[in-house]
Formats: sequence, C-alpha cells, structure tokens
Amino acid sequence: MLDIPAAGQPAHPAAPGILVILGASGDLTKRLLMPALLNLACDRLLPEGFAVVGMGRDLMTTEDFRSRQRADIRTFATRARVDEERWMWLESRLHYLSGEFDDAAAFLRLRALVDEVAAEVGATGNTLLYLAISPDFFTLVNRQLDAAGFTQMPGAKRIIVEKPFGKDLTSARGLNQSLLEHWPEEEIYRIDHYLGKETVQNLLAFRLANGMFAPLWNAQHIDHIQISAMETVGVETRGGYYDRTGVVRDMLQNHLLQMMAYVCMELPESLDPATVRDAKSTLLRSVRLMESGDVAGACVRGQYGAGKKADGSAAVAYREEPAVDPQSNTETFAAIRLHVDNDRWRGMPVYLRSGKSLWKRGTEIIVQFRPTAGADANLLVFHIQPFQAVEIRMYAKRPGPTFALQRAGMRFDYADSFEAARGTGYEVLLYSALSGDPTLFSRTDFVERSWEIVQPVLDFWSATPAADYPNYAAGTWGPLAAAGLLTRDGRCWHEILNAAVLSQSAFFAAAPAVLLNNLLLALRPLALEAGADVVVQGALDDCMYFVCRGELVALGAGGTSLGMVREGEFFGEMAVLFDQPRSATVRAITPCDLLVLDGPEFRRIVRDFPHADAEFRRIAVGRRSADEAVTAPDKAIPTP
Ligand code: BG6
Repeated sequence: MLDIPAAGQPAHPAAPGILVILGASGDLTKRLLMPALLNLACDRLLPEGFAVVGMGRDLMTTEDFRSRQRADIRTFATRARVDEERWMWLESRLHYLSGEFDDAAAFLRLRALVDEVAAEVGATGNTLLYLAISPDFFTLVNRQLDAAGFTQMPGAKRIIVEKPFGKDLTSARGLNQSLLEHWPEEEIYRIDHYLGKETVQNLLAFRLANGMFAPLWNAQHIDHIQISAMETVGVETRGGYYDRTGVVRDMLQNHLLQMMAYVCMELPESLDPATVRDAKSTLLRSVRLMESGDVAGACVRGQYGAGKKADGSAAVAYREEPAVDPQSNTETFAAIRLHVDNDRWRGMPVYLRSGKSLWKRGTEIIVQFRPTAGADANLLVFHIQPFQAVEIRMYAKRPGPTFALQRAGMRFDYADSFEAARGTGYEVLLYSALSGDPTLFSRTDFVERSWEIVQPVLDFWSATPAADYPNYAAGTWGPLAAAGLLTRDGRCWHEILNAAVLSQSAFFAAAPAVLLNNLLLALRPLALEAGADVVVQGALDDCMYFVCRGELVALGAGGTSLGMVREGEFFGEMAVLFDQPRSATVRAITPCDLLVLDGPEFRRIVRDFPHADAEFRRIAVGRRSADEAVTAPDKAIPTP
C-alpha cells in the first residue's frame, strides 16, 4: 500500500521565495495569479519571506502596479469577500519594473531588483520565474534571463511556462530545446491548469485509495471511457489566438490527454514526482498513433455557426467572431477515438471530445463498464466541473412487494463533504512550484508525446479543409457526425444532464427534485439531422421526446402541417399513454438535439409521480380532443 499522507496534517506555508512574473501587466496576472496568491495568503500558505516582482511592457511604477491590482482583485477574487488585511499583506509585497523584452539592460535592472527584494524579505535562494508571455518571446526572454545571470543564481530557481506549448510537434520540440539550453529539465515547470483542479487531482487519489476498483480497471471489465470538456462560451475576445489554434491544440493535446493519463496510467508505486510523471508518460507512449488514413474514421471536427447562447440570446457564427478569418478552417469542436495498446487496455477505445459554443458547460469523465445480463452497463462518472462529484450509475431494487430494478445513482458531492473554498486552480500550482514539487507540471517527454498523438489529426485536417463548416449551431450538442462516431461502434455519448439544464424547460421548473432525479437517470440523448423523421404516422413505437435544441414539424395525412414543436416542448406522449399508433409524423426541420424517454421508463415515472401523470394526460387529452398531434405543452408540473 502506498504511503498516502493522512488527512488532518495541516499544509505548511510554502518555502520563502520570490515570484518573478514576466509579462506582469497582462491578463493572466490579474485574472488568475493575483486571486490565487490572495487565496494562498488567506489560507496562510504563503511564507513571510515572499514577494512578487513583476516586469512588463506597460510603463508603471510599483505604486501604479499595486493600485491597479488592488482595483482588479475586486473583480477577479474567487472568494465571496476580499480579506482586506490579507490583501494589504500581499499588496505590500508587490513590486514592478517596466521593461521591453529586447532590452538587455532591463533584465539587469530586474536582476538587481530581485536580489534587493529577496534580501529585504529574507527569501534569497528560491526564485520562480513565471513566463506570462506569448511563446513567440520565449527564446528571447530566456536568452535575456540567462545573460542577466538568472540561470546562475544561488539556490533553487524554476522557470514556469504557460501554454500554449508550441503549435505542433516541431515547434514544441524547438521550444523545449530553447528552454533546455538555459535550464535543466528539473527547473522547467510547464503549466497545464487542469492539473491544478481538485477534481483532476482526485483522479489519482480515487484510484490509489479506493482499491475496490483496481481489479475492474481494465478492458476486460470496462467497455470504454469518454472524456468530454464542453464549453458554452465561444471564442469571445480571443479570436486571433484561437483561429491559429483550434480545439485540438487548445484543449485535447493538453488538458484532455492529461486527464486520460490519470485515468488510464498504471498506478505509480510512490507519489514521488518522477514516479508519477513516469507513469503518465508511459501511458501516452502506449497510445496508438494514427496513420493519416485512420483520421477520417476516428475523428470528427466541427465549427459553430450562428445559434443561441446559454442565456437564449443570439450567438454569431465562429467565422463572424472578431479577428477570425471569414473563411476559417479552424475547428471549434473535435471528437476523437484513441486506443491504448498495452495489456490493460488493448481493444478498448477512449473517446475524447471538446468544443466551444455548446449547449452546456461541463467536463465529465465517464467510465462505462461492460453490461451484465439483465441490466444496462454501470457507469462511473467523474464530474470535473462545474459540478464536483463522483457518481456511480447503478441499479437498485424498487421499494415494494415485487422484485424489480430501477436506475439509481450513488454520488459523492464535494459540496456535501468539504467546506474548502473554490480557487482558480492556480493556488496549488503556485504552492507546488514554490515548494519545488513538479508533480503537477508537464515534463518534456509528456508534452512531446502528446503532440505526436494529435499531429496526424492536425496534418490531415489542414490538408483537407472541411467542406461542411459551419456544421453545428451555437448552443447545440455539436456536429451530428460526433454522435455517429460512437453509434458506428455500437455506443453513444452520455450527455450528462443536471437539474439546472432540465429546469430550463418550464415544464420541469417546478417539478420536485425526486422526479427530476428519475428523469436525469432515464433520459437518453438523440441527435438528428434536418429532414429526419423522429416518429412516423401509423407506426407503433414506444418513446416520448423532449426537444433540447431545434425545431420540428408535425405532419398529418397527406403531409399537412399540424403545428411546430420547439425547444422546451415535448411530443410523443399520446402513443405511449394510450398505447396507440402514432397519429402524426414528426420531422426535424433543423438539426435537433432530443432527449428520449423510453416507454417502460415513462410508464414507471408516471406511475410513481401521479401529478406528472395527470399533467401529461391533461396535455395529451387536450391534444387529442383538439385533433392536434402536437401543441406547445410547456406547462409546469405542479409540486405534490
Ligand atoms: C484554456 C483554453 O486552456 O482552457 C481556453 O485556452 C478554455 O480556450 C480553457 O476555455 C478552459 O478552462 P476551464 O478551466 O474553464 O475548463
């Protein structure tokens, strides 16, 4: 058994040190670094011997820098209230120097200021150099730092590098080489902010400390793994950066492969940083590299068109976003299937998916076990964000005199167990870097291998521009082909719903929590292209449908339109309630994202929730008597 530190041991303040931020007048400092430093200060995890020395191109004095940060922290602090006393403690430790990156003298002045401040606060011998700058300046800034003697400083020194780390395998190798010319590997700390997330770190803790899953953690018991990172935001103000980047470089190559490594690696024999990082790199080396001929069958790309934002307001198409090429071939969505060719996982796919301007924000890892006779597969769901939880989707006996099964969830929610305040994820990374612990940073071999994994996809896509962009509307589940990627393998994406999503439909807004829970576990996603028939007049089938996104039309005899079905509405309940053939054909007139409630689940739910039953019947009877196949039954279920 691994020696895992016991709970109850308080974390000690980090070692005394100076944090030098290159590019300190930029966004990263105010949005992420200062809030993280304040959180650390509030938790007494920064030592008395600590100071920040910022250098940037903006002409400012230390006083200006302090007052700018003082104003910005009100906007970007992550805790409910700014602790004024702790802020003043931190603010008095902020220093600033203006300088251009091509000015060697500025780096000499920086060096002198760092020495002076370090002596003043008693932090000599532990220097963190944080490159909060575009990678275009890495080579130049490293040369300047070296020339100013930073690489020769006495004591510990570390260089912290932000992503993007390269734009492809060749440039990543080039960047690594230029860093390694000045700094040995152990002094290079490459940030992937996902590793700072509690729920991502918990992947390793979960596997290490809960041995009951260990015997099941292989392709013999697990059917497949899905890792989805979905965002509702578009590219916002970052069009220029994003259009050169795309989602594979922005999310898959780093954040998603990091999570995959934690889920799939062999468990390390110790928590020693090198051992953990070796295990992750070994896993990536076992990931099968695609040939260009594999890409079309294993990967799907997408780019968003006009649609809706999460709040219902209009969203512009990606190609109309500021600083984006109106003919851009950049992907804002990608789904890819990977294989790990080692003894543990041979034959079992891992699906990665990420995109911008999607229907919901949520990062989830789903481990789908192989089904056993008589019941669907069990799922183990890691809710990474915004919900922080681990959940097992399983079966339980229904209360009552007969032996019957029902879907159920067994869930551990962070909010129920911990009072810990939410951070930016940078707290743990800064704390680790000050303490000289590189576990949560990406090593050269990991970064280069992750580029090797995505490079065939990038090459194939840049050589064959997409003919169908934009191929998904903003605010939807993504391109239809992504569903096809799994359907062809006899699987489906699990769209993890939550009560907040269901409550967007007025019908569910007032529904009791227990009914929502039943629905969350029972609904399954169905994505359709425009023109597809969901139900066909006269057919006998046994499902009802909720419209998440899109528009459908109900057609009677001879194709006459009986009315529209829109977002937030449902249809198909009559055939299920009254056991009758479909009275109308319902056809998608735009691409549609539907949630399907299969007949047996629907009947069970209306049996268990008489108020829901009454409401469904009232609507269904109303439709029948009005001789309408479909109306707009967006009514609230009364709370019992
Ligand atoms: C960044 C990407 O690395 O991660 C952004 O550059 C993305 O495009 C962000 O939005 C997502 O991070 P989080 O923590 O919000 O999931």
